[in-house]
Amino acid sequence: MAVKIGFIGTGGIANNHLRNLANIEGAEVIAFCDLVLERAEEAAKSWNDARAYNNVDQMLDDRKLDAVYLCLPPMAHGEAELKVIERGIPFLVEKPIGLDREVPDNILKKINEKNLMNAVGFQWRYHPAVKRAQEILKEAEIGMALGYWLGGLPKTPWWRVKHLSGGQFVEQTIHMTDTLRYLCGEVTEVYAAYGSRILHKRVENMTAPDVGSVTMKLANGGVATISNSCILPQGSGLTGLNIYTDQGTIEVRGNGLRFLKGKNDVEDLPMNVQAHALEDVEFIKALQTGDRSYILSDYADAIKTHEIVVAANESAESGQPVKLRA
Ligand SMILES: NC(=O)c1ccc[n+]([C@@H]2O[C@H](COP(=O)([O-])OP(=O)(O)OC[C@H]3O[C@@H](n4cnc5c(N)ncnc54)[C@H](O)[C@@H]3O)[C@@H](O)[C@H]2O)c1
Repeated sequence: MAVKIGFIGTGGIANNHLRNLANIEGAEVIAFCDLVLERAEEAAKSWNDARAYNNVDQMLDDRKLDAVYLCLPPMAHGEAELKVIERGIPFLVEKPIGLDREVPDNILKKINEKNLMNAVGFQWRYHPAVKRAQEILKEAEIGMALGYWLGGLPKTPWWRVKHLSGGQFVEQTIHMTDTLRYLCGEVTEVYAAYGSRILHKRVENMTAPDVGSVTMKLANGGVATISNSCILPQGSGLTGLNIYTDQGTIEVRGNGLRFLKGKNDVEDLPMNVQAHALEDVEFIKALQTGDRSYILSDYADAIKTHEIVVAANESAESGQPVKLRA
């Protein structure tokens, strides 16, 4: 069954999704909207019968869409989602879903009023390494977890400006926070320490911290710390989540999983997969069948991950631990 799709925001991540959708049977992207019309026009060139817009209402009124991808920067969320929801169109929105609590709370309320199918771009949940970790954890008791997102500075100009992106923990490391929740359960309390060590001296407009650690209490009694930095030369960092259990250490990474069970007892599973692509396949299946179980992250769940990163920023600001809303 053909699924007619529109895009709002046609920058970096939109192009990732578009490359995936081009390989999915039945996915037809017929409308592109960006503040910068030329970007929407450029994207439209690769798709049959596609039109470009720089106004969301115009796009939604002009084309009959079965789904919308919202690929907006963190500070741009709110209005576009509400326009899509008002028209009852299912959507996939990229993380982070906003910068504060008010915008996502209002969006969730409107989604619930319409009981609308939706997805949030936490693609790690679709990664086979995460699926294997889930299996291992059925037989293991979690003690604690250490997550890390250690890399270089992304090039998008808004990323480095704290009030536009929320900073690295909100913008990027949120993937590890979501993976932590998915594998280890809910977080109840957060304490964060951030620093600006190097990049604010070298990079214009760099107001986001460049190092940070966030310590969390888990509902199951465990603890977790997730640290991030963007000071590293490209290619010299590491991203992942280590989970320490009574059965051994599980290391979940983008390129696979290692399960260290004891001396000379290691399960090593290298994996060459694009989790984004898996996420898009499942979202299109959900649209085609109406079966929401293909979607592993929806707004109602993602807002709980969002709550953690917002609380982390508040804690870093105040120097005090922050308890999460129940
Ligand atoms: N899931 C992932 O792994 C992943 C990876 C990269 C980026 N992202 C997320 O995707 C989002 C976008 O990132 P990006 O790298 O594509 O940014 P980008 O700056 O490359 O693209 C964003 C686009 O949105 C457009 N835009 C801004 N406000 C708009 C509005 N109100 N209406 C229409 N268009 C608007 C901009 O003009 C720009 O073309 C970010 O939140 C980022 O965190 C997710």
